[in-house]
Amino acid sequence: MLRFVREAFRDIRHTGSVWPSSPALAKAMTKGMMAMRGERRILEVGPGTGPFTERILKQLRRGDRFDIVEMNPAFCRELERRLLKGFRHQRSDIDVVLHQAAIQDADLPGEYDLVVCGLPFNNFPPTLVRSIFRRMMRLLRDGGELAYFEYAGVRKIKAPLVGERGRQRLKGIAYVGESLRRRFDGRQELVLGNLPPALATRLCKGAGAPPARKRRAGTSRRRGRAA
Ligand SMILES: C[S@@+](CC[C@H](N)C(=O)[O-])C[C@H]1O[C@@H](n2cnc3c(N)ncnc32)[C@H](O)[C@@H]1O
Repeated sequence: MLRFVREAFRDIRHTGSVWPSSPALAKAMTKGMMAMRGERRILEVGPGTGPFTERILKQLRRGDRFDIVEMNPAFCRELERRLLKGFRHQRSDIDVVLHQAAIQDADLPGEYDLVVCGLPFNNFPPTLVRSIFRRMMRLLRDGGELAYFEYAGVRKIKAPLVGERGRQRLKGIAYVGESLRRRFDGRQELVLGNLPPALATRLCKGAGAPPARKRRAGTSRRRGRAA
């Protein structure tokens, strides 16, 4: 918690909040994971001090692979020390790889079943938001799920405070979100048990397509769409 507050004051643009997400939000963000059958590939982007990471680690099974992408070295050190070192020691049957990089540059194997994203999109320019979503969608397998969140009503609260250029930027970000939700069957859940309350959104790549026909070439693993 202290580490998060310190990093937020050092770099609020990328950290995006002054304290970490709650277990209730972590639950909403990782809901899809339980319903996925077989060995799973999970990617987390922007874990910070790891509230979502912690929940994902608890749900991993033998044969799963978990990639984590975090650009802040202080958060990477904290994740390694507090969560990942002990996990790897106990569960050598699960691959967990931490990439200290921005998601735009990270070298990732792809074909993920689930991407859990904690990035503070409302602090970014719309062009960056669009290119990060494009990258994450490309990394998902067909039928896979992308979960992201934002604070409820955040753009309405910010709009009077940011000037005309800021309002145009926020409108651009809202537009990216709306078109993603339309295109990828977006489902939203308001999580009141977070400070501030948050809206978790889950997108399905190729919604409606039967996952069994879109399997990764050369694998026979069974996969299911999240509930
Ligand atoms: C709002 S914090 C979220 C932390 C955590 N997921 C939570 O909900 O408490 C955003 C995190 O994303 C990281 N981040 C920001 N931009 C990033 C990027 N382009 N690639 C990877 N990580 C990024 C920040 O360093 C920070 O740890």
